[in-house]
Amino acid sequence: MKILAFAARQDEITWFNKYSKKFNLDVTLEQKPLSPETVFLAKGYDSVTFIGSCTVDEVVLKKLKSYGIDYIASRSTGYDNIDLNCAKELGIKVSNSSYSPYSVAEFTLMTAMMMLRNIPATLKNIEHKNFSLKNLIGREIRSQKVGVIGTGKIGKIVIKLFQSMGADVVAYDLYESDENIKYVSLEKLLSECDVITLHAPLTSENKYLINEKSISKMKDGVILINTARGELIKLSDLLEGLNNKKVLAAALDTFEGESEIVHKDCSLTGYNHEILKKLLDMKNVLITSHQAFYTEEAVSDMVESALSNLIEFNETGDAQNNLIKI
Ligand SMILES: NC(=O)c1ccc[n+]([C@@H]2O[C@H](COP(=O)([O-])OP(=O)(O)OC[C@H]3O[C@@H](n4cnc5c(N)ncnc54)[C@H](O)[C@@H]3O)[C@@H](O)[C@H]2O)c1
Repeated sequence: MKILAFAARQDEITWFNKYSKKFNLDVTLEQKPLSPETVFLAKGYDSVTFIGSCTVDEVVLKKLKSYGIDYIASRSTGYDNIDLNCAKELGIKVSNSSYSPYSVAEFTLMTAMMMLRNIPATLKNIEHKNFSLKNLIGREIRSQKVGVIGTGKIGKIVIKLFQSMGADVVAYDLYESDENIKYVSLEKLLSECDVITLHAPLTSENKYLINEKSISKMKDGVILINTARGELIKLSDLLEGLNNKKVLAAALDTFEGESEIVHKDCSLTGYNHEILKKLLDMKNVLITSHQAFYTEEAVSDMVESALSNLIEFNETGDAQNNLIKI
């Protein structure tokens, strides 16, 4: 099978070499992302693989179909970049990837601890030779009530990690899938938790789940963590919440309007994102570059999972991570 891998990064090469040999596949690596402008590169291939920052819209899907491509595989977990309805109509099967949920879960715990111990403020102070303890007093995890929104693969591990450190953890999900989890209503979670962390996918129903209204229901001094998808939080409302001290601190691995910024070196070009500039000036905000997934274990899993899904589609017409069944 001839596969074109769009948006292939340097760090994926080892794994593409390993798994294309293991599965006997002919994989060509392409640095450019899949988009309406680059989709023509897929002509002549049996399938393509891509990542969450690629645009897999109607234009792209129709072109792929016209090249005879009937199944495609994302190497990411999130699939809000793919027009699944259109894929279904065209009869194109689509899979996402399953990979180590510990990558994102550990990152979530780490950023929560950093916010609880004022590490972003400490680093900024020390950069300016200020070694005082002023305003740096922290809180211990065992005395926190943590609210987890979304209890899928990542949310479940996040719950275990926080519980293992003594936190009181409650959760909210549209589907209560695990009887060992203390589920509460969204309202209760918002109003009672010291730390709230997001682990739901972005859908048309939950865009701006965290907005002015939901922030107003939160406990004063709440800490917000987002390692899921940027558009779950309305960034201007979060900025307002930070300014008026309703929100004590925020750690954002993903943020609204990130697509032209994350995973890019903007040191020479700069970037156009006024709210981000304001957030980056704040001592109680931690911005990272959509990197919670980024571990050796997860990158290996992402490549292996995407390629094995394509083999399954080819051989059986279905795959373990087929999204079209949903
Ligand atoms: N920052 C990163 O690097 C990174 C990496 C991987 C995944 N992610 C994000 O994390 C999300 C979760 O990943 P996962 O593997 O745990 O997904 P998953 O599909 O296993 O679980 C998602 C859970 O969210 C629940 N959910 C859906 N809509 C909801 C809503 N409105 N309110 C509450 N719960 C809701 C679902 O019922 C499900 O239980 C992904 O969709 C992706 O957007 C981010």
